Amino acid sequence: MASAACLGAGCGLSTAFAHKEEAMNVRLIGVSIALALGAPLNPPAQAQQTASPKTALYDRLGGLKGISLVVDDFIDRLVTNKTLNKNPAINAGRKSSPAPYLKVQVAQLMCEVTGGPCKYTGKDMKSSHAHMNISEKEWDIMAAEFKKSLDKFKVPAAEQNELFEIVGKTKADIVVSKS
Ligand code: HEM
Repeated sequence: MASAACLGAGCGLSTAFAHKEEAMNVRLIGVSIALALGAPLNPPAQAQQTASPKTALYDRLGGLKGISLVVDDFIDRLVTNKTLNKNPAINAGRKSSPAPYLKVQVAQLMCEVTGGPCKYTGKDMKSSHAHMNISEKEWDIMAAEFKKSLDKFKVPAAEQNELFEIVGKTKADIVVSKS
């Protein structure tokens, strides 16, 4: 994502990669020693753990197809929400960023931060929302609409919690109004 606030899963990617490399090195050393000693090739416990990581949230959500369905439904709810549209800047945002565009951008972002292969190329969360003076109350409405979409597509509670944790990391950049 452009100079965006880091949303979660994507933030740790380079570190995760470095750890993977380390584990591979450990494994290679282990294999060489095992070969030298004529021992069976049982990788060390650390390497075994690295070889079977937890499935990425992206895959558990059904990949880009699953994410697209949820985002499509979510943006439709967001842009038609009467309370949100009482905020003139949010209402105006529907014209400057039409729903189909928002769907593409949000799906790309969700794909990237859940560990998928996409690359988010939109604006960072602060500069794309600051002008709307979004309040805590508006954030809660957005979160409730998001939950409705997740429930509609039967996203399990564990995956919903992970998603809310990731999305929650953007709150400080998006909510600027105290009212
Ligand atoms: C109360 C909460 C939110 C409201 C009311 C809201 C509404 C909007 C609106 C109206 C725009 C278009 C702005 C414009 O063109 O002037 C926009 C852009 C965007 N929003 Fe939100 N949003 C909210 C929260 C979020 C969250 C939680 C995410 C993702 C984690 C998100 C992701 C995006 C993205 C990716 C864009 C497009 C950025 C670009 O143009 O490159 N929004 N949002």
